[in-house]
Amino acid sequence: MKITVVGAGAVGATCADNIARKELCTELVLLDIKEGFAEGKAQDMMQTAALLGFDTKITGSTNDYSKTAGSDVVVITSGIPRKPGMTREELIGTNASIVKGVCENALKYSPNAIIVVISNPMDTMTYLALTSTGLPKNRIIGMGGILDSSRFKYQLSARLQCSPADLNAIVVGGHGDTTMIPLIKKATWNSVPVTQFLTEEQQTEIVNDTMVGGATLTKLLGTSAWYAPGAAGAALVESIVRDQKKLFTCCVSLEGEYGQSDICLGVPVVIGKNGWEQIVDCQLSADEQALFNKSADAVRSMNEVLKTL
Ligand code: 2OP
Repeated sequence: MKITVVGAGAVGATCADNIARKELCTELVLLDIKEGFAEGKAQDMMQTAALLGFDTKITGSTNDYSKTAGSDVVVITSGIPRKPGMTREELIGTNASIVKGVCENALKYSPNAIIVVISNPMDTMTYLALTSTGLPKNRIIGMGGILDSSRFKYQLSARLQCSPADLNAIVVGGHGDTTMIPLIKKATWNSVPVTQFLTEEQQTEIVNDTMVGGATLTKLLGTSAWYAPGAAGAALVESIVRDQKKLFTCCVSLEGEYGQSDICLGVPVVIGKNGWEQIVDCQLSADEQALFNKSADAVRSMNEVLKTL
């Protein structure tokens, strides 16, 4: 098994680090355009192998895609991250050409790879990867919902004073501060609805804090977050390479599901060796569906910007 992570910045490196620690592959390639950067990060990570006890071989490459040849999964994290006050959507102009180029180069050497898109604005970058490569839809997966769902569980666990691992809660829709939809009415604490323990006001607070989860960190850190995005990317890769059939919220191509078409948006999907294998209908209420449609409208208008670039 071979995995490539494109972009050796904080998110890419953290994702690669998690992949190596979990030994998800024998060969892991980290690629970056900055001279020597990926090589340095790869060596640094390899120097943890004896301490952590993993056998994955990590190598770095400065923009030489031939080193990535034969990858089973390619994770794309390239592009500029958010600065405080910026939305993910403001990155579109710069990141669109980067992501398109990365897809072309990576597929030249790994034509059968499953592509995981992390670059922002993630929903639009996933749509771009799908439309520009013409790959079968199941092989293009945007990583946003897993991260947002994990942030949602963090907010819930803090209010409920419980273990995040005991929570079942998902965020659907876009991966944007105003487009994501934490499904609080469906969230449970080991099967018990969380709404039983929270006032309407507390529920609204949790939903709002989840939606600005990324922006809050960008403000605190001066750039966008990396531990949770990197770990979420690795969890997605793990379900692919170990064929775990995990039910994650991911950004995938919709063709009528959830009432939407010609768009990539976050919905619950089964992730296995073929990429995303099945879209699961989580039975949105009328209110939730209305929010989902609104989210789709916003993402669709963002996708329109691609035509002007
Ligand atoms: C985030 O929400 C990087 O989009 C990512 O932190």
